Amino acid sequence: MASTVAISGASGKTGYRIAEEVQRRGDHARLLLRATSQPPDSLQGVDQRRLSLMDATALDAALEGVDALVIATGARPSVDLTGPMRVDAWGVQRQVESCLRVGVRRVVLVSSLCAGRWQHPLNLFGLILVWKRIGERALESSGLDWTIVRPGGLSEREEDLDGEGVLYTPADQQESNSIPRRLVARCCVDALQTPESIGRILEVTSSMDQPVVGLQEALASW
Ligand SMILES: NC(=O)c1ccc[n+]([C@@H]2O[C@H](COP(=O)([O-])OP(=O)(O)OC[C@H]3O[C@@H](n4cnc5c(N)ncnc54)[C@H](OP(=O)(O)O)[C@@H]3O)[C@@H](O)[C@H]2O)c1
Repeated sequence: MASTVAISGASGKTGYRIAEEVQRRGDHARLLLRATSQPPDSLQGVDQRRLSLMDATALDAALEGVDALVIATGARPSVDLTGPMRVDAWGVQRQVESCLRVGVRRVVLVSSLCAGRWQHPLNLFGLILVWKRIGERALESSGLDWTIVRPGGLSEREEDLDGEGVLYTPADQQESNSIPRRLVARCCVDALQTPESIGRILEVTSSMDQPVVGLQEALASW
């Protein structure tokens, strides 16, 4: 039977691709969006719920009846340096708390390579890597069935992806390199379909030199 997968941050460049991949695999996507979010035309007609992550009642109602949540929210670059704290730490924590209240057991979080690092140029934006790790820890300690996907630098490239392999490693093994958002979206959906990914941090980057290996096969060699 088809599952219903909620995707928060589904108006974002990774989030909308996750929603597309969920639909493409025959499951139902439910988009969690804020009032001003603008999802792409490709998601017109898909179930949408508009809410603030700080509104627990609205968040609970939006998660009612879903089988899994993929968290693809992330602070957008801004002069407001509190964004990473509000979105990448508190926002994730609120979503985890809502899953616990509503009974959504399966959660995949899109985080970042180097999450938890204090000394890193990306931290010039509101200590984002530090707040991302706090968000990750809220999920890790929740008792939920979680997977954390930590991508490298994200690209918009959509061409020639079928021959491009993903390098999956456990936490704190990779520091650089990149991956197209489409492949991150596929990793998230693969994780939902791979019970062996529960309780794991997956660092992901990709390259044409990397053999194409499925997530389950990659995890078997860890
Ligand atoms: N950029 C990179 O190279 C890179 C590398 C590694 C990891 N990451 C992480 O990967 C994730 C996806 O990145 P992306 O560049 O694809 O995302 P993005 O396009 O910047 O989208 C961010 C999403 O988060 C939502 N959001 C932001 N603030 C919010 C708030 N206060 N309340 C609710 N929703 C909010 C946005 O909604 P609106 O559309 O309404 O703004 C949007 O849907 C992020 O967590 C990012 O930090 C990025």
